[in-house]
Amino acid sequence: MKKPLLLAHRGFSGKYPENSPLAFQKVCEETHCDGIESDVHITKDGKLVIFHDASVERTSNGTGFIKDYTYEELLQLDIGAWKSPEFAGQHIWTFDELLDFCKQTKLLLNMELKNYEVFYEGLEQRVIDAVTAHGMTDQVFVSSFNHISMQNFKTLCPEMQTGLLYDKPYLDIDKYIERSNADNMHPRYMLLQYQPELVDLYHSRGMKVNTWTVNDEENIRDMISRGVDCIISNNADLLCQVAEDMCD
Ligand code: G3P
Ligand code: MG
Repeated sequence: MKKPLLLAHRGFSGKYPENSPLAFQKVCEETHCDGIESDVHITKDGKLVIFHDASVERTSNGTGFIKDYTYEELLQLDIGAWKSPEFAGQHIWTFDELLDFCKQTKLLLNMELKNYEVFYEGLEQRVIDAVTAHGMTDQVFVSSFNHISMQNFKTLCPEMQTGLLYDKPYLDIDKYIERSNADNMHPRYMLLQYQPELVDLYHSRGMKVNTWTVNDEENIRDMISRGVDCIISNNADLLCQVAEDMCD
């Protein structure tokens, strides 16, 4: 069986606070993943930062939207204690810090542009500039639920791989992707079980099938059997164990 790329979703978020430096470090220490998936926003003063939600309540001790915080203000927030008191003291990383980490560890990075609730002006070019400055256009691939953003990204930077995230079935998906200039598709895994023909359809268009967020053994096995190209999971240790058991 072909081994897909194995990515830790928001770092090793099944065990550690999502998108925290600790969760990224633990991918290296406790798993054999090929890389990580993470999410990027822009602060009030124009810094690119790593965080999942548009607002900080769920995974920090603050309130309000990232777009209304300066970077220095965001740095004061604790992004670990919400998960467990033992993880207190984790602080938000900039995109540059995450790129440095991936460069050093050689982990692949699937960067999700979080520009569909808050429409961050110029996020695509900012991401391109940072990745290019780090010399990592081959190591980073991007995705977004905002498909207009992905279209713009590909036009601005043809050498980087782009992907269309989606979590609902589409009418005439074959016509939809024909109009798109994206390299890859990033479906929620249930959609491949609902429409099993999609894997072959995407592959026939030369697109990779990068699926998420597959957290249990049965569905990880199912996605590997279907021949997907990449699996993104919170349970990065389990993901690697199952892939090792099933794949060449
Ligand atoms: O990139 C896969 C996945 O991260 C997309 O959804 O909400 O977990 O960022 P979300
Ligand atoms: Mg994400």
